[in-house]
Amino acid sequence: MQEQWWKKSVVYQIYPRSFCDSNGDGIGDLNGIESKLWYLKELGIDVIWLSPVYQSPNDDMGYDISDYQAVMSEFGTMEAFDRMLEKAHSLGIKIMMDLVVNHTSDEHPWFVESRRSKDNPYRDFYIWRDGKSGGAPNNWGACFGGSAWEYDEKTEQYYLHLFSKKQPDLNWENDSVRKKVFEMMRWWCDKGIDGFRMDVISLISKVPGFPDGPVGKSGYGDFGPYCANGPRVHEFLQEMNREVLSRYDLITVGECSGVTVEEAQKYASSSGHELNMVFQFEHMDLDGGETFKWNMKKIKLSQLKAVMSKWQTQLYGKAWNSLYWCNHDQPRMLSRMGNDSPEYREVSAKMLGTCLHMLQGTPYIFQGEELGMTNYPFASLDEFRDIESIHAYQEFTEKGIISPDEMFQYICYKGRDNARTPMQWDDSGQAGFTTGTPWIGVNPNYKEINAKEQMGRPDSVFCYYQKLIALRRQYDIIVYGDYELLLPESEEIYAYIRTYGEEKLLTVCNFTDREVVFESPDDLKGRNGRILISNYNREDNQDTITLAAYECMAVYYGN
Ligand code: NOJ
Repeated sequence: MQEQWWKKSVVYQIYPRSFCDSNGDGIGDLNGIESKLWYLKELGIDVIWLSPVYQSPNDDMGYDISDYQAVMSEFGTMEAFDRMLEKAHSLGIKIMMDLVVNHTSDEHPWFVESRRSKDNPYRDFYIWRDGKSGGAPNNWGACFGGSAWEYDEKTEQYYLHLFSKKQPDLNWENDSVRKKVFEMMRWWCDKGIDGFRMDVISLISKVPGFPDGPVGKSGYGDFGPYCANGPRVHEFLQEMNREVLSRYDLITVGECSGVTVEEAQKYASSSGHELNMVFQFEHMDLDGGETFKWNMKKIKLSQLKAVMSKWQTQLYGKAWNSLYWCNHDQPRMLSRMGNDSPEYREVSAKMLGTCLHMLQGTPYIFQGEELGMTNYPFASLDEFRDIESIHAYQEFTEKGIISPDEMFQYICYKGRDNARTPMQWDDSGQAGFTTGTPWIGVNPNYKEINAKEQMGRPDSVFCYYQKLIALRRQYDIIVYGDYELLLPESEEIYAYIRTYGEEKLLTVCNFTDREVVFESPDDLKGRNGRILISNYNREDNQDTITLAAYECMAVYYGN
C-alpha cells in the first residue's frame, strides 16, 4: 500500500461559529481559532477541517455561500484568515477548507444575475425549468422541507434547490460553472491551504429529464436515485482532479450521501484520479426510518459492526476509508451509542474513541468529542437554531405525521444543534467560549466537562485521545493493517483484529453497562500481548477477560 501523509493523519473538525469567540459578539471567529491552535497542537492532531468561513447570509450556517473568496464578516477578515493559516503551519498543522459547490447562496452574484432574465449570461449557471401541470417540474422534496423547486415570478420558471430555497443548485453540466469553481479552488490552493472537504459532492450530477422520485411519508418524491452518484459525477471529479487537485499536495474528502462501497471504490480509488477518501453515511443512517432520521431508535451493535466491517474489508487495498462518529450534522455519539450519565460518560467516551481510532482509515474528531461533550438538554423549541430541525418540526407536525410532543423528543435526540453548542473551554461563564451572549446555548454541564479541567488530569478523556492519536504515529499496523471482525453476532462486544505482516492488534470494546466475558481467539491465546491502551488502566492481558462496563483495550502482538 502506498504511503501518504494523509493516510497517517488525524483530522480535527472545527465548527467556527461555536469554537472560540475573540470579540465578545457571541459568535466564534478566526482570531478565536488562532488563539486555540496551541490546544490542538497539544492534542496532537495533524489537520484541521474548517467548516465554512466564507461570506454567507447563514440560512444554513455558512453552507450557503454568497462569496467564495471573502470571509464572513462575523468571523473576521481575510487578514485574520491568513494569520491563522500561517500560525497553523508554523505549528505543523494543516488546514482543510470546506468546499460547498453543489449549491451557492441565492445571494451569490451568480444567482442574483441568473434570476434576472432568461437570457442573462448566468442563467444557465443554475437549474431552471418550466412548471408542469400547474406545479413544480417534478415531485422532489428538498432536504430542509417543502418542494425542491422554487417558483420565481420574474421569469415564470422554477429553480432547483436540493437544500433550502436559499441554496440554489449549481448546474455542473455548464462548462463555465466548472471552470469558475476550479479557478476559485486554485485561488485557495495558491494561498497555501492544504485540502478540501467537499460538501455533498456526490449530488452534483443530476439525471437529465429529472424523473419523479418514489414518494415518502412527507408526500414528496426522493431525489436520491436521480442525484446521488449521478451519471457524470466521476467525470466531473476527474476533471477537477486534472485541473486542480493533482497540481497541489492536498488532502481531499468527499461528503457522499448515498454512496455505496462500489461507488466509493471509484471516488477514492488508490489510482488517485478523483479524491483521497469519502464520508459514507451507512453507519449513521442505521437508525433512520420512514420519517427520515426523526425517531428514537437505537442502533443495534451487530448492524453497526456489519456496516463498519463491510467498509473496512471492501475498501482495503482499493480505496481509503475515513472514520467518524461525530460531525456538525450529527448528534453527539456519546449520547447515541455511549452513555452520557456522569457514571459512565468518561469510560464510554474513551471506548468509542478506541473503537474508531484503531480502525483502518483517517480518523476525524469533531470539536469537543475529545472531551466527551454530550447532547444538549433542550427544553423548548426556541432554543433550536438549525434550519433542518425547525423545518422538520413544522412539516411533520403540521401535516399530522408526527405529534408535536414526539417530534420535539426526536429533534432533541437527533438534531444537529446538539453538536453545535459552544466548545467547553473552562468552568467560567459561558464555558470560556465568549464574554458575550452565545448565539446558541452553552451546555450546562460545562462546569464538569471542559478542556481546562481535563488537560491537567492524566485519566481524562482529553489525555486518552492524546494517547490514541500518538499511537497511530507509533504503530504502522494502525494505519496499514488489514481488518477482521470477531463475534459478528454479539450485541455487547465489538472486537476486531488488525494484521500487518507478522504483527497483530486486537481491539475489544464493551458497548454495554454490564460486565461481559471476552475470550481471545485461539491463535492469540498464550501469546504475550501488550496492552497499548485501556480505559480501566488494565495492564495484564489474559486469554479470558471479564470486561467492566464500557471497558475497552487495544492489545499488540509483535513479532
Ligand atoms: C452537508 C453539510 O454538512 C450540512 O451541514 C449542510 O446543511 C448540507 N450539506 C448542505 O450544504
